[in-house]
Amino acid sequence: MQAAANAIQDHMGPIETEVKPEYNHDPTGKTMKALAWFGTNDLRLIDAPVPDITQDDDVILKVTGTTVCGSDNHLKNGEIVTLQKGDILGHEFMGKVWKVGPKVTKFKEGDRVVAAFQIPCGHCEYCQKKLSSFCDNTNNSSLQNAMYGQRDAGFFGYSHFTGGFPGGQAEYVRVPRAEVALLPIPDDVPDEQALYLSDILPTSYHAVYDTGVEPGDVVGVWGMGPIGLCVAKWALLKGAKRVIGIDKVADRLAFAESRLGIETVNFTEYKDVPKRIYELVPRGLDVAIDCGTFHEPKTLLHKVQKTLMLETDVPEIVNEMIVSVRKMGRCGVIAAYSGYANGFAIGALMEKGIRFIGNGQAPVLRYWETILNDYIRTGKFDTSFVVTHRIPLDDIVPFYDIFNNRQADVEKVFIETQFSSPPSKGFPATTRVKDWVL
Ligand SMILES: NC(=O)c1ccc[n+]([C@@H]2O[C@H](COP(=O)([O-])OP(=O)(O)OC[C@H]3O[C@@H](n4cnc5c(N)ncnc54)[C@H](O)[C@@H]3O)[C@@H](O)[C@H]2O)c1
Ligand SMILES: [Zn+2]
Ligand SMILES: [Zn+2]
Repeated sequence: MQAAANAIQDHMGPIETEVKPEYNHDPTGKTMKALAWFGTNDLRLIDAPVPDITQDDDVILKVTGTTVCGSDNHLKNGEIVTLQKGDILGHEFMGKVWKVGPKVTKFKEGDRVVAAFQIPCGHCEYCQKKLSSFCDNTNNSSLQNAMYGQRDAGFFGYSHFTGGFPGGQAEYVRVPRAEVALLPIPDDVPDEQALYLSDILPTSYHAVYDTGVEPGDVVGVWGMGPIGLCVAKWALLKGAKRVIGIDKVADRLAFAESRLGIETVNFTEYKDVPKRIYELVPRGLDVAIDCGTFHEPKTLLHKVQKTLMLETDVPEIVNEMIVSVRKMGRCGVIAAYSGYANGFAIGALMEKGIRFIGNGQAPVLRYWETILNDYIRTGKFDTSFVVTHRIPLDDIVPFYDIFNNRQADVEKVFIETQFSSPPSKGFPATTRVKDWVL
């Protein structure tokens, strides 16, 4: 699949963009540790050249905190097209400014900053509204443009389908358009609270906001990974009366019950999820939000279709959501999807008058200041409920396996580098993956 997609992309050629994806190398020849993709389930910690200023508005960061996202599992599993051997992954990271390009006046060496997972140009129609994930000018993928009619912004470390920008699961990273793409972090906010402004906090906030959760709503959340947990938390903060989390990983469901006090449905126990939802909520859910994965079929029908490549994506979760919500209910899809699914429940969608909302890749810039100032600094949203582990960058390859397999009670990890500060109070101490009980 990767070879075919890369061949099509090569044939079409890249779209001209304002931002160059490849970086210049540090003139001293210095190298850094970085996590790179070499094939499906073949990730390696490599020595890569340290980046240098490549365009005048770049910043080079020393990475002080990075992490792994559920979206990275799609890359590990080879489910996103146009990955190339040696691509450096990682789209959630923070750091200290090390070098600034000649046009950068907002930042100086040593400033603490967090990066958005997307690269905004700063001036297009979407960037002007802070819809940074939808920027018109930073993704050169003609394949995405052909498949979707338009294309998202460029993303860090997320294949050539989103521009081919080297990512932040590394000791150093180049941030193009740095004055727009970086948020300064105040001294009173520790790294473990700030890092997740890159992605999971704005993403989960966006899912709840964009799908229109209102006070008194009963909300179903499919998938109890880090995104689902944060979605449940935001839904409660927005006044939801009840939240029901659906998953099959018993540890994750128990975690959601104990840390958030929500109800849960284990779909290995309740095979017919909508039936169970109607037992719990006879009127049906007001809102359903998809925080699962597009490539883990649970029925034989979709296992077969996916194996035979008759579909790239599985519609089971969205169909369960459509059936489980009340008439005129709302369904939001924040989980990533890539291509096509068979057997979509379009009849129920239409007849019940359901508002079905593709939430898109979350526009981080629209929310991150609000989350930082109104929720993190006030203590209303404390990330310590979801950060379960802290590891050194050296352990990132075995960590990917455990996170992908949902073992060892892992939810969100904080990954430290040689530049990190010691763990903050209330957050996990550093442990080694080899010492975890699986
Ligand atoms: N739109 C965005 O901007 C954005 C940003 C970040 C992540 N995401 C996406 O959000 C999703 C969740 O991310 P995460 O980090 O929590 O990932 P994760 O892989 O850790 O969690 C996904 C959870 O979904 C569960 N699941 C799988 N099939 C299910 C089913 N049929 N019903 C119910 N649950 C099911 C899994 O068991 C797992 O616990 C991923 O698809 C990720 O790509 C989107
Ligand atoms: Zn992500
Ligand atoms: Zn733009």
